[in-house]
Amino acid sequence: MWCSRFRLAALIAAVAVVGLVAATFDVRGATDDLLAQAQQVFQPLPKDMATPEFPIAPERVELGRALFFDPRVSVDGTTSCARCHQPSLYGTDGLAKPHGAHDKINPRNAPTILNAALQLNAHWRGDRKNVEDQATQALVGPTSFGNLDYASAMNRIKGIPGYLGMFERAFPGETDSVTPDNWGKAIGSYERALVTPSRFDQYLSGDARALSATEQRGLRTFLETGCTACHNGPGVGGGSFQKFGAVEDYWNETKSAEIDKGRFDVTHDEADMYVFKVPVLRNVAVTPPYFHDGSVIALPEAVRIMAKVQLGKDLAEQDIADIVAFLGSLTGELPDHFRNAPVLPPNAFEAAGDQATGEGR
Ligand code: HEC
Ligand code: HEC
Repeated sequence: MWCSRFRLAALIAAVAVVGLVAATFDVRGATDDLLAQAQQVFQPLPKDMATPEFPIAPERVELGRALFFDPRVSVDGTTSCARCHQPSLYGTDGLAKPHGAHDKINPRNAPTILNAALQLNAHWRGDRKNVEDQATQALVGPTSFGNLDYASAMNRIKGIPGYLGMFERAFPGETDSVTPDNWGKAIGSYERALVTPSRFDQYLSGDARALSATEQRGLRTFLETGCTACHNGPGVGGGSFQKFGAVEDYWNETKSAEIDKGRFDVTHDEADMYVFKVPVLRNVAVTPPYFHDGSVIALPEAVRIMAKVQLGKDLAEQDIADIVAFLGSLTGELPDHFRNAPVLPPNAFEAAGDQATGEGR
């Protein structure tokens, strides 16, 4: 009796050990398998986002960085790109809808500019070709800088003596290099250098331990739920336009005050009704509020809504928490040249004042 009990215990112990070993192998196998699956749908961020057409030149980056942070291009001197794309908020402004010159409110939420140049187009509705086109058109946007035309915007820049030399260095050999086109190219060059690699990139490069067990579980849930049908590639989004509310009307869940028809208002094609660009999810954990209208403040709620309206699924609380943990691993390092604001070229009268004191020395 004692003996058989002992045997039973030994048997149980042996089974347990075998089970444990098998489970360990299983976990190892599953981990490798998860990494391999992830590598099929995502890629690590590139070093920068330069293209042959839009190269990154140091002189352009320096100029573009200054212009990005300079509010003096706006009609009332209140608004720079950085007003709505703040470094301390990972290139967003924390508001549902940002305020521009004369406090005019934008119709849509400000997405982050970090890694933005990866995307197929710019803006929620894709109505800007690329970051260069975006920056140029922002000059005369009524809800950003408030300039009535390009000429008056350029005159504001030309009124700041230091910029002339900076434009000449960035665009050598051009007779008048202070143009809206070059403004766009310079700022675009700067934006193409704004890449934020995170632990997820380490993971995708083959280091399975770069993500915690919870984050890996979240990644698996993200893959298995079907989020990657739209959120894929190096940006974890940014590669296509999709209907917001593929399964049911988005506003049922977001409680949006106004219903935005999305890309339809740009193309007037019925197929584009409620279609928006799939946003990049890089740094999403630190860039609330969410969606094109900033209607949702908390990330778990945004994840719940996505599963419901895009995939017709009711995710369990635990699955939502796991996905949120995974999304946290997409928060990257801010480049120093974005984290720290530049010192801007002085105004004309300040520059003159400097010279006067210079003479006295
Ligand atoms: C008043 C606030 C405001 C200012 C100023 C502003 N932006 Fe934006 N930005 C926005 C909003 C809002 C959007 C989304 C617009 C839309 O999709 O309709 C946006 C979109 C963008 C995008 C596209 C991102 C994406 O994922 O599609 C880029 C890039 C960008 N801005 C860069 C800039 C640059 C560069 C400047 C300065 C030249 C600038 N912004 C000035 C509010 C602002
Ligand atoms: C059919 C395509 C599709 C699928 C599937 C999908 N999404 Fe989205 N996702 C979008 C689109 C389009 C938006 C932009 C909606 C808007 O605001 O107009 C978006 C927005 C988001 C946002 C808000 C980002 C921001 O910066 O505002 C999050 C977070 C998100 N998705 C996570 C997920 C998760 C998690 C899943 C899986 C449960 C998922 N998505 C599945 C297309 C999709």
